[in-house]
Amino acid sequence: MSLATPHLRELADRSGLLIGTCVSANPLLKSDASVYQQYQRVAAEQFNILTAENAMKFALVAPAPDVYDWTVADAIFEFARKHHQKVRYHTGLWYMQTPAWLNTQAMSLSQIAQTGWAFIEQTGRRYGETMYCWDVVNEALNDPPDAGLWRDCIWLQALGPDYVAQAFKLAHKVAPKALLVYNDYKTTFGEVKADRQYDMVRGLVDRGVPLHAVGFQTHLYDGQIPDGNAITANLSRFAQLGLDIHITELDVAIGKMEGTLEKRLERQARIYQVVLEACLRVPRFKVLQTWGFTDRYSWLPRFLKYPDEAGLYLDADFQPKPAYRAIHKLLSKAGATVDRR
Ligand code: G3I
Repeated sequence: MSLATPHLRELADRSGLLIGTCVSANPLLKSDASVYQQYQRVAAEQFNILTAENAMKFALVAPAPDVYDWTVADAIFEFARKHHQKVRYHTGLWYMQTPAWLNTQAMSLSQIAQTGWAFIEQTGRRYGETMYCWDVVNEALNDPPDAGLWRDCIWLQALGPDYVAQAFKLAHKVAPKALLVYNDYKTTFGEVKADRQYDMVRGLVDRGVPLHAVGFQTHLYDGQIPDGNAITANLSRFAQLGLDIHITELDVAIGKMEGTLEKRLERQARIYQVVLEACLRVPRFKVLQTWGFTDRYSWLPRFLKYPDEAGLYLDADFQPKPAYRAIHKLLSKAGATVDRR
């Protein structure tokens, strides 16, 4: 069964909004199962921007020192080109999913530093002209209540505390047309970490560092209905710095909700609705991406260890859930309020 028309991407196009998802390489690129074909059809018809869930991360493109294998990344770019979709390159420097050889080989800090800069350079040279945006640095901030601005990680150790600014400068040099994004989690609602992120980002902007957008991941696990006004206020202060606002990894877990499945899916829909409504009130809100689109392929059940977890808006058979209908309805009205082009 097909999803209702107009599709999400058509609705988003009308108001200059990008709507997207992360995609898993196997179902997107293989053809040996009918479920993969279904996945590809929905991915092509519903979205105008795609992100690789894992395939473009450092560990997956760099099998050995100084060796890059872009086969899968190229194929995702090709899928997007064929379907007139933009691509978010995810991700540049991140403390996770770094190559195993980086962690196991006896390398000096300056050699590690060289691998980080080389990854940025190689990525920019290959996809600088074709990517729409790039999560140049992902999750560099420390989680409160831990003190200190920066997360202690291999990049901080090898490159020093100015590595975030330097990464953006290098990315801009090698990919001058790409929109450069700082991406992090637990910063959507105005949390302590959001304040930390605001100060950090404002510091970069004040220094003229080429940062163009902030990615708010927005993985929501606790089942609570968020305060939409707090979201709008928080995102607006970042927008007032002259930055675009991207929701990059939205998903809404149901495992901690009470009641029947029907009630929980209604509550999930309400959460998606509150978040999207709050974002749409921010004129520089440009991208809504969820971390997947069907419960068949979602990282949540494995991560949250709740086998029935179902955090996305299509079920495992690609059928619409209440959350899909809530998003569709809001996007239908979005063009009438703010034109984001
Ligand atoms: O590639 C290996 C494979 O060889 C092995 O057989 C298999 C066995 O478990 O593991 C495979 O690696 C897994 C990898 O995904 C690729 O599938 C890792 O175990 C698994 O931990 C990894 O999880 C990914 C996670 O990032 C890593 O932290 C999730 O799929 C991915 O959804 C998640 O995405 C992150 C964003 O990049 C950043 N923001 C948070 C978000 C959710 O954690």
